[in-house]
Formats: sequence, structure tokens, C-alpha cells
Amino acid sequence: MEADVERILYSRAQIDERVKELAAQVVGVYREKDLTVVVVLSGAFMFAADLVRHLAQHVEVVFVRATSYGDGTAPQHAPKIDVFDPIDWSGRDVLIVEDIVDTGHTLSALIGVVTAGGARSVRACAFLEKTSRRAADVEVEFAGFQLEGDEFVVGYGLDLAGRYRNLPYVGVLRAGRIPD
Ligand code: IMP
Ligand code: MG
Repeated sequence: MEADVERILYSRAQIDERVKELAAQVVGVYREKDLTVVVVLSGAFMFAADLVRHLAQHVEVVFVRATSYGDGTAPQHAPKIDVFDPIDWSGRDVLIVEDIVDTGHTLSALIGVVTAGGARSVRACAFLEKTSRRAADVEVEFAGFQLEGDEFVVGYGLDLAGRYRNLPYVGVLRAGRIPD
């Protein structure tokens, strides 16, 4: 698996440090308030697990799935949102935790669901942000790292066709590993 990686973008140590900083930012904004953390599966599982461990307040964790990518590297249809164990969003302070925000369509759809449910506040926390292909008007209040280009990255939860999520760092794949 590791032989497929051409270059490491963010090492495990860099990630650990940045996740701690992000968690401190989150705590700074919400203070002691209870928080509902929405983990967008599958990509955000690793990031969310690390992030919530650094949060000091009471946290409820809700899992959702947003399906917009098939086995390729570009969105194939509008995201469909599934909430596992649906909850009443009303009056909650909700933090959506994403692996990466690219076009923003997924985040926009999620914010729509949570807002329609009557949440008191909704903010987004993304481990990575790709700004070059942003199409939806969404704000990522807490962002780990910004990717300037549109390269496809894997690791730390991010996959290509279900693979590479278990890499402890974020890397770029060798040419030939990415299908057209
Ligand atoms: P958006 O709706 O275009 O913002 O897409 C966000 C979703 O696309 C993320 O949750 C990822 O699952 C996926 N995605 C976008 N770019 C990448 C990438 O470089 N590597 C892996 N997954 C990606
Ligand atoms: Mg994903």
C-alpha cells in the first residue's frame, strides 16, 4: 500500500499538532457549551476520533453518510445524506466534521439537513479544504490545511475507491494508481 504513495503532504506529527490546534479553536468558540459533533462517514472517522479527544465539553457524536463519489475522483451525483440513529436537531449547537471540503456540495447538503431540523447553530470543521473547485457557498470555520491545487489525496481517512484510509499520513498517489 505505502509503495503507491508518491509523496507525503502532511506527516503524522504535523497532523497531530494541527488537530490539537483546531480542537483548541473549537473549545475557544463554544467554551463550555454542549456540542453535537456530526461525523461524516467514512472519510472523517479518523479525524473526528482524534479531534473529539481534545474537546473539553460534553459531546454527543452523530454519524452521517453523504454519498456523492463512486469509485472515481470526481463527484458523480448530488450528495445523498443518511443519518444513522436520527436525532432531534432542535436547539443543538452542531459541529459538522468533514475529511475534506472540495466543491462544498456535501457540506451544503448537510448544513441544509441540520438547519431544517432546527439546530441553534451549525459550523463546519474540515481536516482539509480544497478551495480551487468550490462551487457551493459554504463557510468552513475550522480548517486544518488548505490544498491550493486540485490533486487527489489519500490517507488519514481519505480514500480512493475504499482504499488507503488507514494510512496515518496524507499523501499523493503515484500516477497510474488513479483511474481516469
Ligand atoms: P464536495 O461535496 O465536493 O465538497 O466533496 C467532499 C467529499 O469528496 C469529501 O468528503 C471526500 O469524501 C471527497 N473528496 C474530495 N476530494 C478528495 C480527495 O482529494 N481525496 C479523497 N476524497 C476526496
Ligand atoms: Mg468521502
